[in-house]
Amino acid sequence: MSAEWQVLWLALKDYVPGISKASTAVVYLVSTSLNDVQKASQQQFGRQSTRYGKSHILADVSDVEAALERVSLPERARVLDIATGAGHTGLCLAARGYDVTCSDLTAEMLERVREAAAVRGLSVETRQHSAEVLPYTDSSFDLVTCRVAAHHFSDVTAFVRESARVLAPGGWFLVIDGSVQDGAPEAEAWTHQLEKLRDPSHGRFVKPNEWKALCVRAGLEVTECFLDPFKMPDLKWYFETAATPEANRKAVLDLVANAPDEVRQIFRLGEEDGKIVWWWQRITLVARKPD
Ligand SMILES: C[S@@+](CC[C@H](N)C(=O)[O-])C[C@H]1O[C@@H](n2cnc3c(N)ncnc32)[C@H](O)[C@@H]1O
Repeated sequence: MSAEWQVLWLALKDYVPGISKASTAVVYLVSTSLNDVQKASQQQFGRQSTRYGKSHILADVSDVEAALERVSLPERARVLDIATGAGHTGLCLAARGYDVTCSDLTAEMLERVREAAAVRGLSVETRQHSAEVLPYTDSSFDLVTCRVAAHHFSDVTAFVRESARVLAPGGWFLVIDGSVQDGAPEAEAWTHQLEKLRDPSHGRFVKPNEWKALCVRAGLEVTECFLDPFKMPDLKWYFETAATPEANRKAVLDLVANAPDEVRQIFRLGEEDGKIVWWWQRITLVARKPD
């Protein structure tokens, strides 16, 4: 029996009368087997994990710091950072003295987290699992965070529902991700094509009204939800980070060259010093689980 099995068995046996070790094992295996979307992400990020370190734009956590101003947490808050990547968000929270679990689907990413934590003298727990099934009992955390990752998930509804479940009453849910404003289907289709060509493990951007509805359905109260466009420094850098194949790079350059006016305006597409720049529609969503 693996350690994860044992945790599940011990957690369930007192609450589910008659549950056997065998049925616990089946539940565990079904809930942890990966679908094709998850496997694609795992491959992509396993290959690219070293590109998400200190030099990546995600190392700038000013967006996380700003969002944290909007929540109130106990001194030793229990935090779960989902799809932690190289751990920029989780480590920022650990540096505040919180008790942080950094989780991700990809083992190589968690290795990067442990390396970065050691360099910074920080302590975090690392756990490998998907965002769609969280291996924790109800009410385990005061804050669940997920930054620049939900657009990869195979089931965003399950991610929000599970996050709400593992939050303690009064706990906070914080999502930061790419998005696209409501009511702009042309821009939505354009950015979807671009992101998919750049990195086939891209799923889709969730729009603000969809995020809000998902939270409400999961029993969370949305306290903030806003778009705060973020300037992407250079398309070439963006390709390199994802190891975009040459043919796909060409297709993206065509998309950029032929972008309709609405798209040009919304993403503020432009050229600076020979580099293609644009403004990513970054969403910050803060929600709270009622007491
Ligand atoms: C861009 S990185 C995340 C960046 C990170 N949150 C930060 O603040 O720097 C995206 C991460 O999502 C993870 N991921 C993708 N799909 C996932 C899923 N379904 N469940 C959990 N993690 C997933 C990938 O393994 C990758 O590490």
